[in-house]
Amino acid sequence: MRLLSRARALEDSGKKVIRMEIGESDFGLPPPIEKSAIEAIRNGHSGYTEAQGLLPLRENICRFYHDSFGVSVDPERIFITTGSSGGLLLLTALLLNNGGDLLLPDPGYPCNANFALALNANPVLVPVDARTGFKLTPDLLQECWSSNSRGLLIGSPANPTGAVYSNQALKELFLFIEANSGFLLVDEVYQGITFDPLDWSTALNVSSEIFIINSFSKLFGMTGWRLGWLVVPEIACSDLLKLSQNFFICAPSIAQHAALAAFNDETQAIVKGQADTLSKRKDFLVQALRDIGFRVDAPPSGAYYVYAKLPENSIRSEEFCCKLLEKEFVSTTPGTDFGENSSQDFVRFSFTQNLSVLKIALERIARFLGNSTEI
Ligand SMILES: Cc1ncc(COP(=O)(O)O)c(C=O)c1O
Repeated sequence: MRLLSRARALEDSGKKVIRMEIGESDFGLPPPIEKSAIEAIRNGHSGYTEAQGLLPLRENICRFYHDSFGVSVDPERIFITTGSSGGLLLLTALLLNNGGDLLLPDPGYPCNANFALALNANPVLVPVDARTGFKLTPDLLQECWSSNSRGLLIGSPANPTGAVYSNQALKELFLFIEANSGFLLVDEVYQGITFDPLDWSTALNVSSEIFIINSFSKLFGMTGWRLGWLVVPEIACSDLLKLSQNFFICAPSIAQHAALAAFNDETQAIVKGQADTLSKRKDFLVQALRDIGFRVDAPPSGAYYVYAKLPENSIRSEEFCCKLLEKEFVSTTPGTDFGENSSQDFVRFSFTQNLSVLKIALERIARFLGNSTEI
């Protein structure tokens, strides 16, 4: 956050900062979603909706799961939320109400630990590294599971590593957790931003007992509209409904109406094209970082970040990111934002800029590395 405000301050002072710390795409809103939003405003859809979300939107989501993955989901199991952040808050409130440990891979999305802390639960960070593709395995899980453990939250694709779990890997984790009477939450907010057709998946294919967190923020470029969804096991529906009514009343109405256009053919073709563009950027960035001395031992399979290990003789990540911003006006995120596991050795680079901008950024980073011993 400190780096973010510094990047903004530099921009305000007229510097051309290349923003590689950013967690939102540069593609803007797909036109069909924009059109749907404008119609919703004109038609006066500005009141509350049902707490669980508009039924036609939940039905669209069910159709999406059916047509894309062959999974049948009852709309009663879908909850439209205020961003996936709202969904994460609801689920942590539902599942960690009596405290206990929530296991989280490290590195991982930093807010997850804070949701657990806010509920007086205890986040337990489990170190993962490139040897397992930054993924948790049943062996790692077994080592850290204790009588206080309540459940596990993983991302697939994950932030900051872009790791994607295969259905087989998820199944192994789920069987372990089920045998220990725990719960498994899978954050799929980067679903659809994957680079291999085999990684186009949902944990719902593994079990309807897994809690799914999803969002319109990333794939549909709707970060500021604050809209996400949950898919939950049937048994959780009635308590979750009470929580969502009380916490939020409902998710933003205009955003829900806008999102009615998210799963139509036109929007789906647009976001598919964007994923192809991101894949090309990823290939460029991974190679370019390696060429200047970074290690990318487990390149991302999804999302729009490369989590790269700094060259051997480099300064540590926080200092690196601060000085790179001051000297070369390239804004990046230090690994320390994502956990404690060797995090001073890592930097996260977003590829939410077009290729020509990424090329300039890499020239600046190379120049900075060349001079950094004198800094
Ligand atoms: C892994 C992950 N989960 C959840 C979120 C929250 O997204 P939103 O609340 O916009 O849906 C983010 C945002 O960057 C994220 O990276």
